[in-house]
Amino acid sequence: MCGIVGYAGFSEAAPILLEGLSKLEYRGYDSAGIAVEREENKEPVIEVVKAMGRLHVLMEMTENGSAVHGTCGIGHTRWATHGEPSVANAHPHFSEDKRVVLVHNGIIENYKELREHLEKKGYEFQSETDTEALALLLDSYYQGDPLEAIVKVLGRIRGSYAVGILFKDQPGTIYAVRKDSPLIIGKSESGNFIASDVPAILKYTNQVCFIQDMEIVKLTRDEITFYDLDQEEIQKEFTIIEWDQQAAEKGGFEHFMLKEIYEQPKAVADTLNPRIQDGEIVIEELGMTPEEIQGIDRLQMVACGSAYHVCMSAKYVLERMAGIPVDVDLASEFRYRNPILTQNTLVIVISQSGETADTLAALRESKKRGHKVLGIVNVVGSSIAREADSVLYTLAGPEISVATTKAYSTQLVAVYLLGLLFGKLRGCISSEEYAEYVKELQKLPEKIQRILDEKERIQWLANKYSHAKDVFFIGRGLDYAISMEGSLKLKEVSYIHSEAYAAGELKHGTISLVENGTMVVGVATQPQLFEKEISNLVEVKSRGAFVLGLTSYGNYSMEDIADFTIYVPRTAECFATSLAVVPLQLLAYYISVGKGLDVDKPRNLAKSVTVE
Ligand code: AGP
Repeated sequence: MCGIVGYAGFSEAAPILLEGLSKLEYRGYDSAGIAVEREENKEPVIEVVKAMGRLHVLMEMTENGSAVHGTCGIGHTRWATHGEPSVANAHPHFSEDKRVVLVHNGIIENYKELREHLEKKGYEFQSETDTEALALLLDSYYQGDPLEAIVKVLGRIRGSYAVGILFKDQPGTIYAVRKDSPLIIGKSESGNFIASDVPAILKYTNQVCFIQDMEIVKLTRDEITFYDLDQEEIQKEFTIIEWDQQAAEKGGFEHFMLKEIYEQPKAVADTLNPRIQDGEIVIEELGMTPEEIQGIDRLQMVACGSAYHVCMSAKYVLERMAGIPVDVDLASEFRYRNPILTQNTLVIVISQSGETADTLAALRESKKRGHKVLGIVNVVGSSIAREADSVLYTLAGPEISVATTKAYSTQLVAVYLLGLLFGKLRGCISSEEYAEYVKELQKLPEKIQRILDEKERIQWLANKYSHAKDVFFIGRGLDYAISMEGSLKLKEVSYIHSEAYAAGELKHGTISLVENGTMVVGVATQPQLFEKEISNLVEVKSRGAFVLGLTSYGNYSMEDIADFTIYVPRTAECFATSLAVVPLQLLAYYISVGKGLDVDKPRNLAKSVTVE
């Protein structure tokens, strides 16, 4: 996700734009830019300044905005999704002679076909971004009526967007429109605003209008007009924001971790949607022919921490869907164990930051041995993204909280996409199964949302058990991988000792630790292992454990043994991790908050471990 801001008023725009962008850096920070319009020799001029890196670079370039003149402009701070972080890819993007200049937050899913269409019409692209296609498409439709051109563009594009637009021949006026990406409108005596989020403008006004999808705004310093797609004027209400600045940066959530837990439905949808076209999984960035995929005889997955837990889930999913043997290693172990890889082993490394030292070293070790490496990465242009042979980007947006949640969930669905693509190409999945899986995959965001909508029970349980000393998470098969992530979440944000155990392994020693009141979380989403899991829970229960059951709706026999049961919506067995992990994220979060800990910045931890 990116941050956009616009201002039309009585003051110099550039300093206001930069101030607004500084409050949106949590939405993206790999490059930034502003466009400000003024009159020169009675002619309208739009000055665009863009910079690579954090916002302070742009601030220094523009002397905190004082070097750029004009009272109407737009600004953008970028989280790269299409095209590496660079000045050329930074926003604003514009057509020739800056006839149309715009900033965009979102993903134009059909930008490739638009780019081909526009190049055929003679347009030349200066960047790799989807946003430039939007700017040039708007230019191609613009014949002097901004509304008409905007409506035509909205009919041609697919995806999510919040857009701020300047037309050079419409001085002092900003147009804006949104679909699926947030956009707010602010009004004040000193001028009017557009922004991705409240923090950008809270310093200047708390009178805000949250426009709906496909509503178009025309904004000058004196007037704000709203239109529908029929170009009919519509009336909109303004509300007063009561948040303070800090709360506003978290979108009203108390912590980034909770905000990012709640962003999971959208992050998962953003990662899936561009890769599912008319019911088919399309992963162009894979850069592998069907023959190469059919020729893979082993997958070697390598990562750290939560990304490693994704690999553990991936082992069950990919072996089941694609019939390929999967080995999984901790990156810190892989690089020193002198791994024996076959010639046709595909190495897959997973990393949110793309900068984890051990994972990067594992990638380099694999390439040194002549193996192709696929990276599943969230940060565009990161070291792992640049050095992998191909990259499947997760489109989770910036993840601020040290404990990963939305990035982890998008890594999972990236694995599901691979499993379905490989499984179909290798004849392991029938067309009917494939179609069913794809349909279920697209339901995951709404099912995650349903869990979030019922968080109160988990909040209550967390408050009741925030004093826990030792917690065991046990599961079988995929539920064991889920247990690993649940255990790490709890440990890293609540400092409570916790262990994940293969449920069948408990009796081989560790069950000696179970005593009266020990909390045991039993994860049971896999139908064929459910009864076995129940019998393991009976074992711990008979030794005095407090059993928290986590299973799918319908498995009500869990309540015969569990002291408390959390249910998640049913889904395909292979996708169970995506749902079962959400209550465990919430449990860890609420226990940490209940203990009064710094949940976003847990002690001893860093968001990206760039050292061995
Ligand atoms: C997860 O909550 C932790 N913050 C940590 O385990 C993390 O997953 C690990 O350090 C890997 O980071 P990466 O995904 O950026 O490579």
